[in-house]
Amino acid sequence: AVAGQELCQPRCAFSTLGRVLCLAYSEAGISNETLQLDSDDFVICQKPVELLGEKSSQSGVSVTLESTGLDDKTIKYYHVQHLLYKRFAPDISSLVLSDDIKLHSLQLLPIYQTGSPTSDRKKLSQEKELLSLFCFFSLPHVGYLYMVVKSVELMSVYQYPEKSQQAVLTPQFLHVITSNNLQCFTVRCSAAAAREEDPYVDTTLKACPPVSMDVCALRIQLFIGLKAICHFKNHIILLTKADPEAIPERREPPKRLLSRKGTNVKFKTPPVAEAGWNLYIVDTISPVQLYKEMVDYSNTYKTAKTQSCIHLLSEAHLLVRAALMDASQLEPGEKAELLEAFKESCGHLGDCYSRLDTQYSHLALPYYKMSGLSMAEVLTRADWPLEDGSQKYERGLIFYINHSLDENLDEELSEELAAKVVQMFHMAEPKQLPHILCSPSMKNINPVTAMNYLSKLDTSGFSSILVTLTKAAMALKMGDLDRHRNEMKSRPEMKLVCGFILEPRLLIQQRRGQIIPTELAVQLKDTQPGLLVASVLGLQKNNKIGIEEADSFFKVLCGKDKDTIPQLLVDLWEAQLVAGLPDVVLQELFFKLTSQYIWRLSKMQPPDTIPLRTSEDLINACSHYGLIYPWVNVLISSDSLADKSYTEDLSKLQSLICGPSFDIASIIPFLEPLSEDTIAGLSVHVLCRTRLKEYEQCIDTLLERCPEAIIPYANHELKEENRTLWWKKLLPELCHRVKCGGEKGQLYLSSLKLYCSRKKSLT
Ligand SMILES: *[C@@H]1O[C@H](CO)[C@@H](O)[C@H](O)[C@H]1NC(C)=O
Ligand SMILES: *[C@@H]1O[C@H](CO)[C@@H](O)[C@H](O)[C@H]1NC(C)=O
Ligand SMILES: *[C@@H]1O[C@H](CO)[C@@H](O)[C@H](O)[C@H]1NC(C)=O
Repeated sequence: AVAGQELCQPRCAFSTLGRVLCLAYSEAGISNETLQLDSDDFVICQKPVELLGEKSSQSGVSVTLESTGLDDKTIKYYHVQHLLYKRFAPDISSLVLSDDIKLHSLQLLPIYQTGSPTSDRKKLSQEKELLSLFCFFSLPHVGYLYMVVKSVELMSVYQYPEKSQQAVLTPQFLHVITSNNLQCFTVRCSAAAAREEDPYVDTTLKACPPVSMDVCALRIQLFIGLKAICHFKNHIILLTKADPEAIPERREPPKRLLSRKGTNVKFKTPPVAEAGWNLYIVDTISPVQLYKEMVDYSNTYKTAKTQSCIHLLSEAHLLVRAALMDASQLEPGEKAELLEAFKESCGHLGDCYSRLDTQYSHLALPYYKMSGLSMAEVLTRADWPLEDGSQKYERGLIFYINHSLDENLDEELSEELAAKVVQMFHMAEPKQLPHILCSPSMKNINPVTAMNYLSKLDTSGFSSILVTLTKAAMALKMGDLDRHRNEMKSRPEMKLVCGFILEPRLLIQQRRGQIIPTELAVQLKDTQPGLLVASVLGLQKNNKIGIEEADSFFKVLCGKDKDTIPQLLVDLWEAQLVAGLPDVVLQELFFKLTSQYIWRLSKMQPPDTIPLRTSEDLINACSHYGLIYPWVNVLISSDSLADKSYTEDLSKLQSLICGPSFDIASIIPFLEPLSEDTIAGLSVHVLCRTRLKEYEQCIDTLLERCPEAIIPYANHELKEENRTLWWKKLLPELCHRVKCGGEKGQLYLSSLKLYCSRKKSLT
């Protein structure tokens, strides 16, 4: 940076992670134009210029690294990075050219990533990682603070009330001296660093006061003849020189805006000094103490809902945040105290944003989250309306509660608090009421209370399918089955399905990661299983519930353990196949269905409930279920002893195997439990082998077990290239068996006759 006329040459270098970040005042870029000022009568001023980041290399200022003290090997790892070039134009109107643009107090301030409140990563080693870097410099009446590292940006501008002499920047404060004052300003370094550190800042999870928030003067202390300032840890060291003529008559002791206790001024020289040099060490007040004073001060704003309260609390919050970032300097006790203050300040900010009707009221949510306060605690802090309902609930609180209830937190509100929440939403956001009532946190709501508010919705024009369903659920809770039935009957099924899609929690709740069916779901299971399956399918179609979740929902609902599959779940799978859900892997679904059909067939286990769809329904509705081959029906009808209760499962399985999309080979290993001793089992095995084109084996089996089916089988299967099997295999076998006679001789003979008549009719 080059200041027009006055040249200074401080070098400021700072090494981090093998890089030298450097900003230098340099003689190289001096403009000599102002020199013309003296010789000519006009003033030619250069325009002010600001170049940020790499662009600043265009300034023409050249910087060279000197290798003093470094060996040549290491120097090659260092390079120059241009950060900032700023040229000020003298203010012509003020006519104090030289003084107004005299730069001073260039400083780079690093902030490291250690022990911040928001990061839970444990840094084992002492190795510090640079999080952010700030660059400060000052003119007599104004100071500039830039954010460096990723990009270079102007962060804050400090306008001093009087001409400054020198300034020092710390993570918490900017201290500036004028000839008679030590001034202290707030800084935004921790706000910027927090954003570097945590990508979740500025989401619904976390917040931090904005970097752009106005800076403010915290305090002014009087000193006489201030000459220089520097800073070490929590101490400000001041050098003063009182000019004898300038000493005013006994001044009042140093005045502080905020604190009387915290600042100890230690006089290292006799208090009443003659004209001469004095050295002062001022201990800065501890962040926690200052924080507390600021919070106390903010209480004066509490009743008047103003932005100032938020500003003050934000300053206090940043102060604590900055101290926590500087954690290496903290005692363990101090750190705990700061963390406590941090949470507390988040709670205060949450309160402010929840009460004040600002465009930022949604910030109540992240601040309350960071505060660690439970929903019940927040609700208890909030002011309650008067009995006549004259107090309006502000958006921030509604936003926070609405969001928290939507998140299915494990916290359960008491009956009283739940009632207050319902009352709040009734007043502020009536449309949201059904959703609110479906939150697991509202489990303890008195159903009569809820019903009253829901009925009010109906009469005030907010009636909706959700209100109907929520009322049906509340009626169940009240044990009023008639009312429940009436509510459910008042709308067509399609509408009800839509309602469940809008609010899945009417059916399915999650508590501590567990899926819990609601009372309403349990009731539907018994009374309207079709609606229940259609609704869950609707949820899946709309990505409101995953495949596994739906499976475990039905298992829990039907009280089955992990390995037993209720018929309702089979109904859902069949419905999924019919609906052609895009996300479902078809073969996986086939596998689930066939293994269930097979399992039940092999165990002679009828379905636990009446299936919603028959095999005929499925064949008609779904292309994956194929028409069952005619010979299969001949085969099955030959078994007069078959138990009719499994025929549905058997038909569905056969139909799937006859269908076009089924991967037969994959099912073979799972057919084993299905014994070929029964005709049912036999039919499935022969079907599979047929689909794998193992015709000869099938012919043998059928001839042995069910000669009646052999001709229909041959008619259906032995076509085209396989027609030779008629001659080479089937005919000789039949003739041979007829010749042998025996028990089945007659059957073979009739088959042979059937065969001959078919052949005749064909030729
Ligand atoms: C200013 O500098 C330029 C070269 O950068 C030189 O040519 C010129 O004479 C200088 N002017 C004055 C007034 O010194
Ligand atoms: C409440 O939350 C729901 C779901 O997140 C959202 O759609 C709705 O707009 C919210 N309402 C209010 C008032 O915040
Ligand atoms: C039946 O025909 C298929 C082609 O459709 C052929 O791959 C297969 O080998 C034939 N089987 C016999 C036993 O001839």
